[in-house]
Amino acid sequence: MADFQRVAAVAEVPDPGKTLVEIDGEMVAVFHVAGQWYALDDVCTHDGGPLADGELRNHTIACPRHGAKFDIRTGAALTMPAVRPTRSHELKVEDGGVWVRLRATAAGSGPSDHAVPAAGGTAASSPASLGPAAAAPGAAAPATTGPVADSLAGLPLSVEVVREMLKEVKDPELFVNVVDLGLIYGVTLSPAADAPGRQHVAIDMTMTSPACPAGPQLIGDTKRVLVARSDVAAVEVRIVMDPPWTPDRMTEAARDQLGIF
Ligand code: FES
Repeated sequence: MADFQRVAAVAEVPDPGKTLVEIDGEMVAVFHVAGQWYALDDVCTHDGGPLADGELRNHTIACPRHGAKFDIRTGAALTMPAVRPTRSHELKVEDGGVWVRLRATAAGSGPSDHAVPAAGGTAASSPASLGPAAAAPGAAAPATTGPVADSLAGLPLSVEVVREMLKEVKDPELFVNVVDLGLIYGVTLSPAADAPGRQHVAIDMTMTSPACPAGPQLIGDTKRVLVARSDVAAVEVRIVMDPPWTPDRMTEAARDQLGIF
C-alpha cells in the first residue's frame, strides 16, 4: 500500500477551501470544510472535468464543465450527468501538514453511501455519449416498439409523432428517454426516393459527452423504434456536438425523474 504523502501545509488551505495537488503523477483535489479534510480524484466521472476548479458548497463540489455534483466526503455522484463516484483518498493532518494516501480502488467500483440518481448507480459507463456516428449496432435485431410507439401507429408520420416515438429510447443507465434528456436536436422528414409513399427520417442527436459506450446503443435503439413503422423507409442518425449538451436541456420530467431540483 502506498504511504501517506505530505501535500500541503494546513495553513495554506482556508476553511472552507480547496487546493489541487499532485501525488505520484495523479491530480488530487483536497478540500477543507468545517474543520474536516477530504481528498478526491480531480476527475469528474462524466467526462473528466477538473473538480478542483468547480464551485464548493458545504460538502458538495460541482464540476465546472456540465455541473455534475459530487459529495466530497465520499466521492459519490449526486447529480446528472455523472452517475459514478469519483475516487476518494485517505487523508490525515499531522505536524501542521496535510497528508494524503492514494486509494487503489478505481472510481466507480467502491461503495457509496449516496444513491446514484434514478439509475441505481451500478452501471459502469456514463450516460448517452458519443459513439461512432455511423454505427448501427443491433442492426440485425428485430424491429420492436413499445406502448408509446404502438399507440401512435395509426397516426400519419410527422415530426411530433417521431419525437413521441423516441420516448421509447432510454439511456441505459438513467432510464430517462432521449427526448426528455434533451438529446434530440432535430427531426427531418423527407420522401424516400426509392420507396413511394414512405419517408426518410433524419435525427440530429447529441450526446452528453464525446466518449461513452452508451452512444451506439442509443443510435441503434432509435433506428429500431422508427423503422418498425411501415411508412418509414430509412432512418439516419446524425451525431451533433455543437452546441454541446448541457443539463439545462433536460425537461422538467427528466429532472423530476432524476431528482434534480
Ligand atoms: S465533465 Fe463533469 S459534468 Fe461533464
